[in-house]
Amino acid sequence: MSELPIHVIKNRDQWTRTSPDWVEPGRRAWESKEITWGIWEVPESTVGALGDLSQWKGKDSVELGCGTGYVSAWLHRLGMNPIGVDITAAQLATARSLQAEFGESFPLIEASAEEVPLPDGCCDLAISEYGASIWCDPFKWIPEAARLLRPGGRLVFLRNSTLSILCTPDVGTAQPALIRDLFGLCRVEYDENSVEFHLPPGPMIQLLRSCGLIVENLIDIAPPEDATDTRFEYIKLDWARHWPAEEIWVATKQP
Ligand SMILES: C[S@@+](CC[C@H](N)C(=O)[O-])C[C@H]1O[C@@H](n2cnc3c(N)ncnc32)[C@H](O)[C@@H]1O
Repeated sequence: MSELPIHVIKNRDQWTRTSPDWVEPGRRAWESKEITWGIWEVPESTVGALGDLSQWKGKDSVELGCGTGYVSAWLHRLGMNPIGVDITAAQLATARSLQAEFGESFPLIEASAEEVPLPDGCCDLAISEYGASIWCDPFKWIPEAARLLRPGGRLVFLRNSTLSILCTPDVGTAQPALIRDLFGLCRVEYDENSVEFHLPPGPMIQLLRSCGLIVENLIDIAPPEDATDTRFEYIKLDWARHWPAEEIWVATKQP
């Protein structure tokens, strides 16, 4: 494995510091009887990002930036063979203890999603929910996801919407105003402790296509009618009622 880039080290340090805060949310997500998406936990039955769920039974998935592992746990319950990949040992320790608590086991690999120690064409689904999708350099992790996928396989990832990033200041919540430039947007450092990546849709589509990934869907997530504000300060329900705060990308690897 090559030396880790500075953004990966910073993000790993940040996730090591904050991992205790994610144990309880992780446990609640593991408890969920259905797959949900994003901070308002919109059910997959409403979102439809994964299509007909029966198609995944017996198939292989790799979750890039799996954190506490609940997305992989949900896929496991569909009958998939998931593998979780995460750079932060403390996050994987939580995932392991939740595996023990819920009596479910699947492989967890400590590695950067920008350089995954798994063979080419090892999965049918590469997935990320606020994992590699925002914490990794897209010019590194998207080619990795494409390499891991079998022809015809699917890449599904959830991230903050580009619009929300454009409206969010370095400190504080999303505003009803454009604050950042879209041109040149990619690496975003809200503070000196971590690095996020938010490549806009145009360059993202070009990047995906250059890796043999054809976009099938881009789903704007709206909070459910009965939603309330979440513990996340950067986005308020009132904003998200007007504009999509989160989006899910679905792309297929060319046969
Ligand atoms: C919001 S959490 C994961 C989301 C997951 N669905 C959850 O909540 O448990 C983000 C995860 O990305 C991981 N991460 C950050 N940079 C990474 C990298 N370069 N490679 C793999 N994982 C990374 C962090 O360690 C953290 O566990």
